[in-house]
Amino acid sequence: MKTNGNDKLMEKIVSLCKRRGFVFPGSEIYGGLAGTYDWGHFGVALKNNLKQSWWKKFVDARQDIYGIDAAIIMNPKVWEASGHVAGFLDPTPDGKQFNVMFKTQVGAGEEAVVSYLRPETAQGMFVNFKNTVDAFHPKLPFGMAQIGKAFRNEIAPRDFLFRQREFEQMEIEYFIRSEDWEKYFEYWKGEMLSWMEDIGLDMGKVHELEVPDAERAHYSKRTIDFEFDFPFGRKELFGLAYRTDFDLNTHKLEYIDEEKGEKIAPHVIEPSMGVDRAILSLLISVYAEDEKSGEVRSYLKFKPNIAPVIACVSPLLKNKPELVEYANTKIFAPLKSEFGRVMWDDNGNIGKRYRRQDEIGTPFCIVIDFDTLSDDTVTVRDRDTADQERIKVADIKKYISGKIQ
Ligand code: GAP
Repeated sequence: MKTNGNDKLMEKIVSLCKRRGFVFPGSEIYGGLAGTYDWGHFGVALKNNLKQSWWKKFVDARQDIYGIDAAIIMNPKVWEASGHVAGFLDPTPDGKQFNVMFKTQVGAGEEAVVSYLRPETAQGMFVNFKNTVDAFHPKLPFGMAQIGKAFRNEIAPRDFLFRQREFEQMEIEYFIRSEDWEKYFEYWKGEMLSWMEDIGLDMGKVHELEVPDAERAHYSKRTIDFEFDFPFGRKELFGLAYRTDFDLNTHKLEYIDEEKGEKIAPHVIEPSMGVDRAILSLLISVYAEDEKSGEVRSYLKFKPNIAPVIACVSPLLKNKPELVEYANTKIFAPLKSEFGRVMWDDNGNIGKRYRRQDEIGTPFCIVIDFDTLSDDTVTVRDRDTADQERIKVADIKKYISGKIQ
């Protein structure tokens, strides 16, 4: 095994994820299942925050994008029409072409039909194009957005969350008039970059790659990959494709363009983003080490709106009922009901608690000490600088809210 700094970084991240309850190997007690991972408490919280930030930006903050949550198992005709049955192939090491869709059986006995677990969320949007148009009567341009699981029987799953057999996608199908495709391609490139910056990716590690003709998917006339400098190399993070009218045509779907007074198949710009690759690139971006009191500490510099825990509340000593009572009723309970992602930690000494919270990436640790009882102030420690300041208990909610914006 190579032992350069980059390999060590992956080892450190994988180990931290397991130790601190972010990500566990799938089916571990039975020897695991390659290409699958299970998400622990903090991993779920991190993933939810990330997905929420995507949904907020691309659905809630706009008026032209409609959400959808389609079934994972679809009529197999979908995958015949989309070209996946014939063409979603990868070569095996002995040179054979292998379809990476997972097959499953729907129904029993003679009635049973072979179907597939979806390999992309995109088709769930195309097949609901007519339903969406009929329900909401959108004018062009408009989009559909979906977050959900996708499955690929990858021949060689590898590199932790990077290439899995079960993963999540966040995709948008943005429907436009054909003559506008270049304009909207550029527009979505900017939007994708802006979201990457929002969540706190190290933008110095993000690069654009124009995917050459021979390597593009069968439906695409232009694709760019956003690549990221992972410790194991520069690899695809997300993709942006111009899918033309391929999908709507193949599903025989059309749209009445009232402006032009004609039936058309709108063209599609597709920003496609993997949740798991977003999390992995984020972990790589925020992982940091420094020295505090002669000890090396590792910490995750999550932005407060993405951190799985926004604040940790601790009584200085857990065997002093007056501190515990104050911490619980005046700080923890109100913050917990306001922000949800607030943690109580009275385990070990205060130094140990800080190390634990640093590794989880908690931006603020609030400590209730004996001064608190007389002056109603608490210590708030900043994760990145380890600096501490005294804040009035009455101002704590406002202080934290201000950091989440
Ligand atoms: N609908 C278009 C589409 O599915 P793709 O490039 O095959 O395009 C889109 O996949 C994104 O899904 C990728 O950019 C990546 O973020 C993520 N992704 C694809 N395969 C993956 C895998 N095996 N494990 C984790 N993420 C994956």
